[in-house]
Amino acid sequence: MKTFKLVIVGGGSTYTPGIVKSLLDKKEDFKLEELRLYDNNEERQRKVGILVEKVVEKFDPELKLTLTTDPEEAFTDIDFAFAQMRVGLYRMRELDEKIPLKYDVVGQETCGPGGLAYGLRTIYPMMEMIDFCEKYAKPTYWIVNYSNPAAIVAKAMRILRPNARILNICDMPVAIMRNMANILDCDRHDIVADYFGLNHFGWFTKIRVGDEDRTEELKAYVKEHGYMPPDERSEVRHNDASWKHTFDNAKYLARMFPDYLPNTYMQYYLLGDQIVKDADKNHTRANEVMEGREKRIFDAVDTYEKTGEIDMTPFFTGVHGEFIVEVAMSLAFNLRKRHLVMVPNRGAVKNLPDDAMVEIPAYITSEGPEPVRVGEIPAFYKGMIEQQEACEKLVVEAAIEGSYEKALMAFTMNKTVPSAFVAKQILDEMIEANKEFWPKLK
Ligand code: NAD
Ligand code: G6P
Ligand code: MN
Repeated sequence: MKTFKLVIVGGGSTYTPGIVKSLLDKKEDFKLEELRLYDNNEERQRKVGILVEKVVEKFDPELKLTLTTDPEEAFTDIDFAFAQMRVGLYRMRELDEKIPLKYDVVGQETCGPGGLAYGLRTIYPMMEMIDFCEKYAKPTYWIVNYSNPAAIVAKAMRILRPNARILNICDMPVAIMRNMANILDCDRHDIVADYFGLNHFGWFTKIRVGDEDRTEELKAYVKEHGYMPPDERSEVRHNDASWKHTFDNAKYLARMFPDYLPNTYMQYYLLGDQIVKDADKNHTRANEVMEGREKRIFDAVDTYEKTGEIDMTPFFTGVHGEFIVEVAMSLAFNLRKRHLVMVPNRGAVKNLPDDAMVEIPAYITSEGPEPVRVGEIPAFYKGMIEQQEACEKLVVEAAIEGSYEKALMAFTMNKTVPSAFVAKQILDEMIEANKEFWPKLK
């Protein structure tokens, strides 16, 4: 039986124990020869590593686990890298969210000016990681990337490292499909979704369960309740009150634009004024996560170090870990499973640019994704996507050329930003806040 060497990049992430659990759940079919954790923050990874060790002990005690901060040790001969780096940690996420809010602009991790700032931090570290893979990994390596902002990362890597074996994915569509499955009372694996857009910017056009088209039934439900399932049955992931609010907001979009069912992230572009009104400018999602998910992990490790006792179940994150493993298995075994992933457009959405990185269904083969053809999309959606795509293109060009002017164009182009004056104020404050991370903009 073929076995695999796999490295998790961003080993110190809050998601690592959950991903490892999902990997080991599949050990009969996807056998690991070695699991490595790699991070540039040794202490954070050491702590999360204690939890991971426990997960390994429980679910696959034979497995060799290595923790390292050395790229050569991390990437040598690997088959897979699962990437989930957060450049600047939650400290910078907090600023990404709070700086725009000062100007009454949406403050969000991946959308609006916060997402653009996060993109400018992440492009070069991601490129460096690809170079480590090219240098040390097996030539058939695959990087499956969750690192955000995935839309900007995907676009930048396409330009900077066009031959890299990287597949960019997001857990939001599949998490929405998990809720849809609850609503339709079926298994999420039986849902066949048609979808188009960019990452964190798209719409479901058709939902089938097996061969049965259940789109209209689902639309009727979402217009009433958003994506909140009837029995509030949910899992650890996306279970905080703010996430429930986000799932609920989908009802307004489904009522106003009944053609398609929105990705939850459309709320930031279409309901921006309300999102700003609902926000607490001094306490954003980054604070919630630091006080919640992040604290729970590090508290559990501290308790374990003192008492030798640990409860790991709060760290098993369901669909987030399952999805990356499902995608990797389809790559590993040429399963041709159909998933929503990011791919170069190349005509798949006929009336969008060829070089856009679109999120659409694709069959995942051992040579990568084979996208389906989506065809033409209507003016409203096309216009929205083109504006966002141009914004993302400009921010990538700003990073590559070190261009202040292009960065300002990107910030101005974003639908969440009301004017060039506001864009400039936010950009200038972001430059100051991101001094240690951003390329120089002149
Ligand atoms: P986290 O801060 O807990 O973990 C990220 C880890 O990455 C940290 O340990 C940090 O030290 C490490 N890191 C930073 N720069 C690095 C580098 N250059 N090389 C190696 N390691 C590096 O963050 P988190 O909340 O667990 O999220 C991790 C990432 O996954 C974020 O980018 C987040 O946005 C992303 N994410 C994406 C999706 C998706 O749908 N695409 C879903 C969930 C999380
Ligand atoms: C969704 C998105 C991710 C994003 C995450 C943030 O799952 O798909 O891209 O990183 O939400 O969740 P959080 O709980 O950290 O706010
Ligand atoms: Mn995502």
